Amino acid sequence: MIQLTNVTKSYGTGGTVLALNNLTLQIGTAERVAVMGPSGSGKSTLLNLVCGLDEPTSGSVKVEGVELSGLTDDARTRLRREKIGMIFQTFNLLTTLTALENVALPLRLQGLSKKEAEGRARSMLARVGLADRAAHRPDELSGGERQRVAIARALIFRPPLLLGDEPTGNLDSATGEEILRLLDDLQQEYQSTLLMVTHNAQAAEFCNRIVTLHDGKIVEDVACGRGPARDKA
Ligand SMILES: Nc1ncnc2c1ncn2[C@@H]1O[C@H](COP(=O)(O)OP(=O)(O)OP(=O)(O)O)[C@@H](O)[C@H]1O
Ligand SMILES: [Mg+2]
Repeated sequence: MIQLTNVTKSYGTGGTVLALNNLTLQIGTAERVAVMGPSGSGKSTLLNLVCGLDEPTSGSVKVEGVELSGLTDDARTRLRREKIGMIFQTFNLLTTLTALENVALPLRLQGLSKKEAEGRARSMLARVGLADRAAHRPDELSGGERQRVAIARALIFRPPLLLGDEPTGNLDSATGEEILRLLDDLQQEYQSTLLMVTHNAQAAEFCNRIVTLHDGKIVEDVACGRGPARDKA
C-alpha cells in the first residue's frame, strides 16, 4: 500500500534541517500504524510526503504502487482526493460552509451534482452521529463534533488510505476516545490502511504497529495492540 525507499527530506537552501534521513518503510493494506516520536522528529513531514503535499529531496514514495514524483500535479491532486482521507489536529474545515457542505465538498469538486453530493454527505454525517448538525457551521459545533465532520469528509470517498496527524490532539480524553472508536469502526468497515501520527498512548493502542521516529530516522518498529502487523504490501 505504502512504500518509502531511502527517503530523505531536507529543508533550507543549504539542506540545513534533515527532517527525514534515508528512511525506508513499508506498510501493507489494512494495517493500522501509529507514528510516534518527539517534536521535530519528522512525523508530519512523513505524512506530507505520503499524501503528495510535499516531495522528498531524494528517494522514492509509492502509494498503491504508484510513484508520486512521476505524477503531474493534477494527477496527484486527484489521487489525494479519491484515495487518501486526511484528518488533521486542526480539522481544516471551511468556516463559511455548513457541516453538510464541508462533507459534500470533495464530491462537488469531483463534479457530482449538489443533490447527489449532499445526499451522500448526509448519510456520511449520520454515520458519524451528526445527522442533526448538518446545517451548523464549524463555529457552531464542539471540538469533537468538528473532528467528526472532518472524519466524515475524509471518508466520503471510502479511501483505501487514511492519514491522521494527531487527530485527537485538540480533544479532551473522553472525546478523543470517542473519535478513536469511530475511526476504529470505520477502518474495520472500509478496511482502509491507517497511518496516524500521535503522541497519545491510548491512540497507539488502536493500532497494530508503532513506528517511532527520532531525528528523521526510524528507531523502533514494533507490532502491538491488535496482534501482529499484517504484511501484504
Ligand atoms: N517548511 C519547513 N521549512 C524548514 N524546516 C522545516 C519545515 N517543516 C518542517 N521543518 C523541520 O523539519 C523537522 C521535522 O518537522 P516535522 O513537522 O515533520 O516534525 P514532527 O515530528 O511532526 O513534530 P511535531 O510533533 O512537533 O508536530 C523539524 O526540525 C522542523 O523544524
Ligand atoms: Mg507534526
